[in-house]
Amino acid sequence: MHKKVYFVCLLTVLSFAVSSCGKKVIVEGYSIIPEPVEMTLEKGTFAMTTKTTCYVGNIGQNDASIKYISRALRQWHFNPVLVGKPESDCLQFILNEEYDMSLGDEGYLLDVTKDYVKVSANTERGLFYGFQTFTQMLPEDIAVVRYNRIVLPACKIKDVPRFSWRGSHFDVSRHFFGVSQIKKHLDLMASYKMNKFHWHLTDDHGWRIEITKYPLLNDIGSWRVNRDNQPWGEADPARPDEPRSNGGYYTKEEIEEVVAYAAERNIDVIPEIEVPGHCCAVLEAYPSLACANDDTTYTVQFGPYWPPRAILCGGNDSVMAFLKDVLDEIIPLFPYEYIHIGGDEAVKDNWKRCPRCQQRIKQLGLKDEEGLQGWMIVELEKYLRPRGKNIIGWDEILDGGVSQSATVMSWQGVKGGIEAARRGNDVIMTPLDYCYLNFYQANADYQPPAMPNSLVTLHKAYSFDPMPAALTPAQQVHILGGQANLWTEYINTPEMAEYMLLPRLCAIAEDLWTPPEKKNWEHFRQKIARHKVRLEANDYTVCPGSFKPWLTSEKQPDGMCKVTLHWEVEGTNLYYHTGDGSFRRYTEPFVAEPGSTVTVLAFYRGLLKEQAYHLQIDPKSR
Ligand code: ACM
Ligand code: ZN
Repeated sequence: MHKKVYFVCLLTVLSFAVSSCGKKVIVEGYSIIPEPVEMTLEKGTFAMTTKTTCYVGNIGQNDASIKYISRALRQWHFNPVLVGKPESDCLQFILNEEYDMSLGDEGYLLDVTKDYVKVSANTERGLFYGFQTFTQMLPEDIAVVRYNRIVLPACKIKDVPRFSWRGSHFDVSRHFFGVSQIKKHLDLMASYKMNKFHWHLTDDHGWRIEITKYPLLNDIGSWRVNRDNQPWGEADPARPDEPRSNGGYYTKEEIEEVVAYAAERNIDVIPEIEVPGHCCAVLEAYPSLACANDDTTYTVQFGPYWPPRAILCGGNDSVMAFLKDVLDEIIPLFPYEYIHIGGDEAVKDNWKRCPRCQQRIKQLGLKDEEGLQGWMIVELEKYLRPRGKNIIGWDEILDGGVSQSATVMSWQGVKGGIEAARRGNDVIMTPLDYCYLNFYQANADYQPPAMPNSLVTLHKAYSFDPMPAALTPAQQVHILGGQANLWTEYINTPEMAEYMLLPRLCAIAEDLWTPPEKKNWEHFRQKIARHKVRLEANDYTVCPGSFKPWLTSEKQPDGMCKVTLHWEVEGTNLYYHTGDGSFRRYTEPFVAEPGSTVTVLAFYRGLLKEQAYHLQIDPKSR
């Protein structure tokens, strides 16, 4: 045998010998994201071994959550024998016989004792979330390392989510992402107990869902020229007859596959069909849906498109017929009660010039073009409600006079959400300055290109609270929760999508699940270090984070300021000086003059990160 081949074979045999017996590990403390509502460490440990059994109570072993759990355990090379009654050395998953009001539909109890691990809940959803927490108790590298003995500290958890809407939005129009990436995204959401997948399926840059009645939506509207080798903002114009090589769409079978995959993970899927703007892809396929005297030649976009003037004619009956036909095909594919109808950023210049639109405004006695958009949205809502669907729209739908039953997604800050809740509409908060994960997450000079002049650091995302204090308790009931949004102009690979999502999605997940009094930035930062390892072991790409420190200061009785430095990435070492040029290592808060400048260097794993930061102490520090 050739020497090299022999060596490789020997290595394979050896690694098999090691992996078949597996490793042992004692887990030290837990880093659960989102932080559970109540968690206490207890005395003792539980050892999960290949001999550990499994008991399921009040639920069948073929029910969805148990199948999911068994599959996960098998992947980690634990294949517990199912036993007929709870016993010691046993993983137990039990549906409550009596509904425990304090747990609701999504809460769970998780007990790790020396004898057993027990997850109990009112619903399969609750069991699923209890299992996700259990998963995060296992070693970070469980996906890639075979263990045969995992020793877990005993603990007691009681956990319920703060909000029922814990969403993640994904724009698959600006760039198309295939089914396997969407499933990987759903896995990610599930592991952080997120439960609403908002699928942005149509926009100026591509129509992404099969519609049988209008095949040109896919044959034309799903394809564009490829500019992925150029910066988004500098795309060359299309050449005559240049092939449309970039794009794609989901067939109905693929949509069903994704919806079923999401359901197994307790995730509801909300399709978004943009009305009336962001419709270049529609108008290239069916130009007759544009306004009467609009002679623009629309094309599926492949770079920046601003202002977004493409708009469906609001005065043309065939537009409403088209939309209803499309919705007729959407409705049976998505079992969840909500359909998102867009409504954002529709520039109405064409409507101002269009005799048909003006005629409709006059005939219906509408105030103006905003009123015409309002009428279209309400018409669609009227069409959808008897068919069992509620609508969601971006906060611009408030401008046209929306019905009370529409849910408003507040993206231009929280103002729209507050106004909507005051009017009695349900609200999902996704203010761009906290929740837009396509924004830069660190110093742009050291990051791959993202939305210009944008910044949402992990710390900023972690400070998101969807509940406006300005609302009365009765109005607060309308805040269903919040959502992270991922727009993909600058994101053209699965790896880049993950890089932008992670770790900030973890912060949003904790914002939406954990009560504010249980959130703790320092603890979260430490947890993220372990989660990065876990995520990378599961083949996700994760941004290292922002290395820019920041400071807070407190005025002392003597007029000086007590300065505390903060940082984002666990393991960062800071060195600072306050003007004398002599750097010292930061170990504890220090004293400096109000209004003075603190120069800080951030080192990570021995390397100077990015640059020196000059941080100003607020002269009016309290
Ligand atoms: C949006 O970002 N246009 C909703
Ligand atoms: Zn028109």
